[in-house]
Amino acid sequence: MKYEIKIEKTLTPKAKPTDESKLGFGKIFTDHMFIMEYSEGEGWHNGRIVPFGPIPTHPASTVFHYGAEIFEGMKAYRAVDGTIRMFRPLENVRRLNTSAERLCLPTLDEEGCLDILNTIVELEKDWVPHSEGTSLYIRPFLYGNDPHLGVHAVKNAVFAVICSPVGAYYAQGINPVKIAIESEDVRAVRGGTGFAKCGGNYAASLRAGKRAEENGYTQVLWLDGVDRKYIEEVGAMNVMFKVNGKIITPMLSGSILPGITRKSCIELLKSWGFEVEERLFSVDELFDLAEKGELEEAWGTGTAAVVSPIGKLYYNGKEYTVSNNLIGETTQKLYDVLTALQWGKIKDEFGWSYVVCNG
Ligand code: PLP
Ligand code: COI
Repeated sequence: MKYEIKIEKTLTPKAKPTDESKLGFGKIFTDHMFIMEYSEGEGWHNGRIVPFGPIPTHPASTVFHYGAEIFEGMKAYRAVDGTIRMFRPLENVRRLNTSAERLCLPTLDEEGCLDILNTIVELEKDWVPHSEGTSLYIRPFLYGNDPHLGVHAVKNAVFAVICSPVGAYYAQGINPVKIAIESEDVRAVRGGTGFAKCGGNYAASLRAGKRAEENGYTQVLWLDGVDRKYIEEVGAMNVMFKVNGKIITPMLSGSILPGITRKSCIELLKSWGFEVEERLFSVDELFDLAEKGELEEAWGTGTAAVVSPIGKLYYNGKEYTVSNNLIGETTQKLYDVLTALQWGKIKDEFGWSYVVCNG
């Protein structure tokens, strides 16, 4: 079921960035955005693409007071055959609905949501950058918008999509990042909202992230919130470790995000013959393995971060170097194959690449 989408084009299009090496992440926005309202009586209605700009919001809106907000992160790529493509977009639509259900926000029709994404990306296709390693980051978000202060499941909501031409998420690019394992704050607990992509999870992560940055680390690696010993995920990515030739990654316990890049990497690794263990993996086991010289590689996976090698791991006053602080063989292969699939450089036997339009 498709939603109605009215299109009002901007009369003052902005100049596109000329130096794509300086894009960074999420600082520049395209000319338009999608927006649609929900109310209990009417369902989703008034879908429209309008010039990019502020969204007037009632000061008592649920989103400001009780954090009823979820989002997605996906990318559109300029493939080598000239088409504009997305990567497994239905997975993002489904995860958005899983997050919506957890936060009692209204869900979206899958086909209708895909159609919205296609329409905005096609309209903004000239904003998809051309250089290697760049893409158009797509940020769908959905929030509760009841104009009163009672704490209840919402009756009014807004769904919007904004787009931003981006380069690498980390300033280091594909070079190894330094990660601090957090022993004080926790991000999420089982039964909470860790598996949902909601703004509150990120708000809870900011203090530890700031501390890590002040100490020279790029991001925090979270431990589970109950025993404080099992490895969970990094601020903006899932993690994987190569130990004695096999891959270990934290299982989807309910408190971590079920990453689409994680899922794709697991499928790729298995197709290359790797054994992949999705299980509880404690920080003690990790460092025992590291001390025995059995930890071969560590990396993070995510839409923004793609596949990012981890070169240093800090925990409780000690810093461990992984893979001589260089990108490991399997990390590099995952990065190369995943990006080649996204940019249509190799045959896509998985059916992951999704053509939106001609560029
Ligand atoms: N974990 C967190 C906390 C994230 O923010 C992200 C990014 O979306 C990921 C993992 C990776 O998920 P995905 O691969 O679907 O982008
Ligand atoms: C993504 O990878 O899309 C994310 O959402 C991570 C981050 C920028 C919050």
